[in-house]
Amino acid sequence: MTVEVYRGIDELRSALASVRSAGRPIGLVPTMGALHRGHGSLISRSAAELRPENGLTVVSVFVNPIQFEDRTDLERYPRTLDADRRLCEEAGADIIFAPTAREIYPDGFSSFVDMEGEFTQKLCGRARPGHFRGVLTVVCKLFHIVGPTRAYFGEKDAQQLFLLKKMAYDLDMDIRIVGCPTVRETDGLALSSRNARLAPQERAAAGCLIRALKEGQSASEDRLPGTAGTARAERAASVRASLIAAVEGEPSARLDYAELLDAETFGPVTDETGRVLLAVAAFFGETRLIDNVIADVGSGGKRDESR
Ligand code: PAJ
Repeated sequence: MTVEVYRGIDELRSALASVRSAGRPIGLVPTMGALHRGHGSLISRSAAELRPENGLTVVSVFVNPIQFEDRTDLERYPRTLDADRRLCEEAGADIIFAPTAREIYPDGFSSFVDMEGEFTQKLCGRARPGHFRGVLTVVCKLFHIVGPTRAYFGEKDAQQLFLLKKMAYDLDMDIRIVGCPTVRETDGLALSSRNARLAPQERAAAGCLIRALKEGQSASEDRLPGTAGTARAERAASVRASLIAAVEGEPSARLDYAELLDAETFGPVTDETGRVLLAVAAFFGETRLIDNVIADVGSGGKRDESR
């Protein structure tokens, strides 16, 4: 199946006009390219859900400059459109939208989507100021350009997914935001376009993230649901301390953050919390990786095996 590549907003809009006027649904998978099986799973999910409804799947490939606070990181970001196209074809996409930065941000561009609230200041929001303003702005623009019925995002970027769902809700965007499970290597390392930058020894060390998270998940499920003794918040703090110790125990890792949050509110863990998000970010050399898991603590410590 051949995938059409569009560079311009107007040509993409004309290609999609007849689809939309025929009432056919459109699935959108926003990416920054350098596609791997993780992105592939989002594309296949969209294709599987949209095909039976005679819809189509658009993959955007755009390295969004305004979400990078570090110029070198932006310049070093891999750009591999030919390989991306093949992966899109295999995964069942119909259209790739690969605009230039000037197409998306013409001279004089000055409107942004900004979100207030404590949950924007945590995790990557604190570590990368301005990052989510850039993400929300570009995704809002992509939503307006493509006009999707559904949009697919990875749970690997849990805070991004949370904020995008909130943006769609707050701004009455009639788009279903679909979260998809994290795809991993055999040792559990979450697939990421940044993994290719790891030196062999850093790659081996990076396995510590998922090991630390899994231990923290079990500890949360064993200790947080208890009824007697200290409050859940206090027990969550001790799980967090073990999570930090586990990552810091890896000599090649430099911890950026390790947090336990209520997965529904992104607020602190309380006695009402049912699902706990355990999230970590760490540097391996120059490369910053993030990962997370969910601990189900609301039902007597039963783990949800689907995540
Ligand atoms: P990017 O990092 O290219 O990721 C695109 C989508 O793929 C995101 O929704 C991300 O969560 C998902 N993804 C990445 N690795 C994954 C994995 N191992 N398993 C499952 N899904 C995975 O996230 C961005 O781009 C950008 O911020 C973007 C939303 C495109 C805005 O510029």
